[in-house]
Amino acid sequence: MYEVLSNDILAPNLHRLVVRAPRIAPVRKPGQFVIIRLDRGEERIPLTIGDADPTAGTITLFIQAIGASTRRIVSVPAGGTILDVAGPMGKPTHLGNWRRVACIGGGVGTAVLFPLVKALAATESHITTIIGGRSSQYVILADELKALSGQLLITTEDGSLGRKGFVTAVLSDLIADPAKKPDAVFAIGPVPMMRAIAELTRPYGIETIVSLNPIMIDGTGMCGGCRVVVDGESRFACVDGPEFDGHKVDFAGLSDRLTTYRDHETHAANECRLTREVVHA
Ligand code: FAD
Ligand code: FES
Ligand code: MG
Repeated sequence: MYEVLSNDILAPNLHRLVVRAPRIAPVRKPGQFVIIRLDRGEERIPLTIGDADPTAGTITLFIQAIGASTRRIVSVPAGGTILDVAGPMGKPTHLGNWRRVACIGGGVGTAVLFPLVKALAATESHITTIIGGRSSQYVILADELKALSGQLLITTEDGSLGRKGFVTAVLSDLIADPAKKPDAVFAIGPVPMMRAIAELTRPYGIETIVSLNPIMIDGTGMCGGCRVVVDGESRFACVDGPEFDGHKVDFAGLSDRLTTYRDHETHAANECRLTREVVHA
């Protein structure tokens, strides 16, 4: 059993959970994730290790309540428990010897980006972090990322905070300015965002790393659930990734596989809502 020490809300449906995991906290590296199972019979849910405190033996998870399982996970209060937390899994982020790096996060991708920016902040690279959300209330971790970055730029779709529009427009401006053009770009967020960024940087030959979120089940390379095509070859995101060269990823195939279980997920989410209404009635 893994105790939830705190559970706070950062944005609508986005929670930060600090969980006691003394075996994982000291050994995890940026870019790695855990697979958690709330209880017997529950789905196995992959979540990035957002942060860790090796001394306290805790890990931080940023969780967007998007469907039935994540809704149940974020409803665990401080003092509650999670049955299994398996990890750390996945390859740690490869940190190159870059002069200037742009780190781009969209939506909950900003939380997945956080440990990466924290690791880069300990290197010589100058970091420009660009984060985006639908509106100001969906922009998360701005203060924390500002403290770690040389520059933080924000975009919102409705213009309620920072520049109106998408993160890609800001990246475009950076690339056009020879004094700011990055040598490498990390992009973490919805598939269309990562795909657009990879297409934007491709003609300039800027190294572009994306973090993929295919459906995962066992997290050990055995089930094949997280298969992605990279450079024409099948790779398993759980053991070969989750970070890959964005210029080589088959994003169309990834989008198709992510929607495979949509009918089941919608059914489960509706059932979850119904159960809650019955319980609270
Ligand atoms: P559902 O309604 O079942 O699914 C909603 C959508 O989530 C689906 O359409 C599908 O795209 C995706 N999904 C569903 N089941 C899985 C699964 N078993 N594995 C992966 N994706 C799935 N989310 C966060 O909020 N915070 C994170 O830090 C985070 N890190 C991730 C790291 C990795 C390596 C991966 C692969 C995914 C990560 N995710 C993260 C996504 C998260 O795992 C899914 O949102 C979650 O599994 C959805 O489950 P659900 O039952 O609540 O929603
Ligand atoms: Fe099963 Fe990756 S989750 S092979
Ligand atoms: Mg689900």
